[in-house]
Amino acid sequence: MRNARLHAVLLAIVTATWMLPAAAAAEVPDAPTFHKDIEPIFQRSCQVCHRPNNMAPMSLMSYQETRPWARSIKNKVEVREMPPWHIDPKVGVQGFKNDRSLNEDEIATIAKWVDNGAPRGNPEDAPPPAELQEFGAWTIEPDVIVTSPLHTVPAEAGDWWGDYVVPSGITEDRYIQAIQTKAGDLRVVHHALTYAVTDPEAPLSDSSGDAFLNEYAVGKNADVYPEGTARLFEADSRVRFSFHYHSIGEEVTEQTELGMVLNPVGFEPDHILYSRQLGQAGELDIPAGQVTRHDGYAKMYLPGRLTGFQPHMHFLGTRQCLELIYPTGATEMVSCANFDFSWHIVYNYEDDKQPVYPAGTTLHVLSYHDNTEGNRGNPDAKNWTGGGSRGVDEMAFAWISWYDLSEEEYAAELEARKSATDND
Ligand code: HEC
Repeated sequence: MRNARLHAVLLAIVTATWMLPAAAAAEVPDAPTFHKDIEPIFQRSCQVCHRPNNMAPMSLMSYQETRPWARSIKNKVEVREMPPWHIDPKVGVQGFKNDRSLNEDEIATIAKWVDNGAPRGNPEDAPPPAELQEFGAWTIEPDVIVTSPLHTVPAEAGDWWGDYVVPSGITEDRYIQAIQTKAGDLRVVHHALTYAVTDPEAPLSDSSGDAFLNEYAVGKNADVYPEGTARLFEADSRVRFSFHYHSIGEEVTEQTELGMVLNPVGFEPDHILYSRQLGQAGELDIPAGQVTRHDGYAKMYLPGRLTGFQPHMHFLGTRQCLELIYPTGATEMVSCANFDFSWHIVYNYEDDKQPVYPAGTTLHVLSYHDNTEGNRGNPDAKNWTGGGSRGVDEMAFAWISWYDLSEEEYAAELEARKSATDND
């Protein structure tokens, strides 16, 4: 009890002190230029995708390539559609791995630059070219590679969302230490998510028993699990590849690979990492023309540590939040993220920001759907929509990644965080 309250306070302190430096560093130049002020931002937050032969429609590697897009760039960064990163920076825990989002000052700098006519400035101010990681290579040495079926993406077609389930060939329980998804052709794979299908009888459309494995995202390396933790791959599980393919004006046949580094048979980690669908709301009832909120709950019977959050809804989903309800009844909003079905982003907390919670904590998932004409993603605002697994049905759950802690570990972690805060 006492610990839970203490923890709620601690999380608040950690969050508050974290926010200060960002807010204090207010730096928007009066006359920003491309080479001096904009290029460094693009190198960090845009070029990983916006370069030749990659997923984004245009390259932002040079001034010449960027200039025609200036207006559009201002619009997309101001509404926080670009870079694709939809966590609400004003709510809950901040501090994520692979975070390329822009802060308020960077957005204001880009806006001012565009309003001033997008001047180039002095090429001598340009930063050295960014060292961008080459894709299409393994950054781990996989013991097992599971390959998706060949898929042909026509030259001209609407986007394709769909799943393939294939055998893994893994016949004993094994603990995964590192995992990577390697897209065959970066230009057509908008995203690829992989899951372990543990139920041998489960039909293609039923993912409720799946365990989330990995997300293919541009600029993301392999997931290497910290020492002492590992993810269980159950014997004879199959692998689900869940794709979003898009056409690029030429026909492309592609095949994506999932590579895993496995611990030896019989190995037992100190902590098993879980990643499951939790907090599915009961009956979804989304009347035409309305914005709705549905609530789902999942009780955690052991103390634990949250490592990641990934909202999951379909076309009508616009926002999802994750709250912790402590056994005392105190609540704490951990994260809120706007949702866009085009992007499936896993928000992994930085190690020292991962929320810890006591036994008996309930995860509360709040899902918002917008069934009005105003929602651009809405295929049909005239119809009632309910739950289901077809694309036109809706869903409302979160993929939650966590590991359980012993009571001693939980207490020790609280102590460690408390002294870290005291020393600030
Ligand atoms: C993770 C990859 C990724 C990153 C990072 C990214 N983009 Fe994009 N961007 C895309 C993709 C893919 C599209 C195509 C539309 C879509 O799928 O949403 C796009 C579309 C755009 C568009 C609209 C183009 C059009 O057709 O009108 C603009 C403007 C844009 N991005 C600017 C940026 C800027 C500026 C940044 C950095 C601050 C950035 N993007 C970071 C992948 C990315």
